[in-house]
Amino acid sequence: MSLVFTLLSAVLKVTFSLIGLAVGYVAYSLLSSWLRDATSPTRHLPGPPSSHWFFGNLKQMRDDREAERKWIARWGRTMRMTRFLGQGMLYTLDTKALHHILTHTDVFQKSEASRFGLGRLVGPGILVVEGEQHRRQRKIMNPAFGPPQVRALTSIFVDKALQLRDMWSAQIAASGKGSATVESLSWFSKASLDIIGLAGFSHDINAVGTADGGPQDELAEAFERITASESSFSLPRFLQMRFPPFRRIPTLSDASVLDAQKKMKSIGQRLLEQSKREVVENGTFETGHGRDLLTLLVKANTSKEVPESQRLCDEDVIAQVPTFLVAGHETTSTALTWALYALTQHPHIQARLREELLSVATDTPTMDELNALPFLECFVREVLRLYGPVPSTSRMAMRDDVIPLGTPFTGRDGVVRDSIRIKKGQIVVIPITAVNKDPALWGPDAGQFVPERWERTTQPPFAPSASSAGLLDAPVPGVWGSLLTFLGGPRGCIGFRFSLVETKALLFTLVRAFEFELGVDGGADMVGVRGNGIVERPILKGREQEGCQLPVVIRAVGVHAKEGI
Ligand code: HEM
Ligand SMILES: *[C@@H]1O[C@H](CO)[C@@H](O)[C@H](O)[C@H]1NC(C)=O
Ligand SMILES: *[C@@H]1O[C@H](CO)[C@@H](O)[C@H](O)[C@H]1NC(C)=O
Repeated sequence: MSLVFTLLSAVLKVTFSLIGLAVGYVAYSLLSSWLRDATSPTRHLPGPPSSHWFFGNLKQMRDDREAERKWIARWGRTMRMTRFLGQGMLYTLDTKALHHILTHTDVFQKSEASRFGLGRLVGPGILVVEGEQHRRQRKIMNPAFGPPQVRALTSIFVDKALQLRDMWSAQIAASGKGSATVESLSWFSKASLDIIGLAGFSHDINAVGTADGGPQDELAEAFERITASESSFSLPRFLQMRFPPFRRIPTLSDASVLDAQKKMKSIGQRLLEQSKREVVENGTFETGHGRDLLTLLVKANTSKEVPESQRLCDEDVIAQVPTFLVAGHETTSTALTWALYALTQHPHIQARLREELLSVATDTPTMDELNALPFLECFVREVLRLYGPVPSTSRMAMRDDVIPLGTPFTGRDGVVRDSIRIKKGQIVVIPITAVNKDPALWGPDAGQFVPERWERTTQPPFAPSASSAGLLDAPVPGVWGSLLTFLGGPRGCIGFRFSLVETKALLFTLVRAFEFELGVDGGADMVGVRGNGIVERPILKGREQEGCQLPVVIRAVGVHAKEGI
């Protein structure tokens, strides 16, 4: 009896001292973060008061779509906001400041916490690594995403679009009513998954073809299990992310995620071996076999121009498999879903786009044929401006720095400053969507869907006021189309061309075949927005528990008019 008691009290003592250590560590981290904020020059920045002890301003930003706009109107284009547990962050729409932040990637990097979070999902792939390791990966990977490579992948995009079109046509036929309601988000999710499988690793997932409950692909299944664990808040995960010592407690990690990660790795290993065999056996390949991204990486790695020290090890390349899935799948499917939403809200734009697309004589356009359609280009730009899938991202200063401003700010102390001094460890927000919708840059109709704006000009200034107010001391520092949608600088989206041609191929095929109407009782008023930390997707008000979705009514093109409905 006394032995049990002694054991029990020993276990309790150890447990309590561990808890004590953990609490002490968290308190220490928070204190030093608060102290940094309190002594940093950023304390002079104006900004909204914190509204929640735990979430700071983050909760308002999530719940009120207008919060950011109101704060900008009240506090100006450069603010201090509050994130978790009263810690500060810098928020700015200033293009000169953003240019500085996005081009100085040695100073402004992903925070340790977000790298850990991403790393759990994808391993040490290009999304996660920094510094020299990133430069090395990016250099070998860049060519795989260039125009000739995307050109060679276009038939994969078009074939998948045709398969999806035929699935939808079959649903209309089966309904017997001349129309059908399809849940566009889940279909686009399947299509973009299939496309990244084929174009990324020559792996045929065929989620579109097996939509009626066929066998689940093992790669798709492992990926789903890893990402599903991210969709809800978990205290152990939060602690592990923010406070590294918690990562040493294995029981805090989700066993099913660890298992899925192992599975993902072994699939990646197999895909890599397949690519290596392909390169050895078939050597040259411009089109056809061996055009997938993974094989291109293996090929680039063996190129004589790459010195031995610059090569990628197998682990680096295997990590790109889940990386491509995370980076390229939900993002593009989200963009496509919002594109359909925009079409349902603007019938004249839908008609005009269809007229342009029907003027093309083939069902199987090339990349160059897709890129030669001017209104399709305007439409896609406007979708990605107003409904950019990734609403914001953030960076942490790795050392003290001075961020120049195009527009000076008046501090809480009444002093006007034309730069911000930031301390090592402080966080900056890169408000992608807010910049894309900034009326000061884009004019008074910035919040409206107007593809025609891109016919007037594709170069800044978009609004005359922007140049006169000095807001565009630097152009919007985006890799594409004067938009921040794909971010900019050396860490801008590597897959933007891939994504644009994929988006165009699907829209081309579907808009030629179908007319779209919103399939939601109550109409557009019932469509809300939900973010998951990476992308923002549509959700239906009153049906939130069903998850993100966008039901759309489809009819075969022309049938509508002929039957006189
Ligand atoms: C509409 C679709 C897409 C959007 C809106 C998008 C957006 C972005 C953004 C905002 C980033 C920067 C994230 C950050 O550093 O915080 C990024 C990075 C990246 N994207 Fe995309 N992306 C899209 C499609 C794709 C596709 C199709 C692929 C691959 C096939 C891809 C691959 C990547 C990769 C590998 C990175 C990391 C680049 C680096 O850190 O050097 N993306 N993307
Ligand atoms: C080499 O190319 C041929 C024909 O394009 C293809 O059938 C074969 O599977 C390729 N080899 C490998 C290892 O992928
Ligand atoms: C890249 O090249 C190095 C050195 O030649 C080799 O050891 C490594 O396995 C290669 N990696 C890949 C992914 O092909």
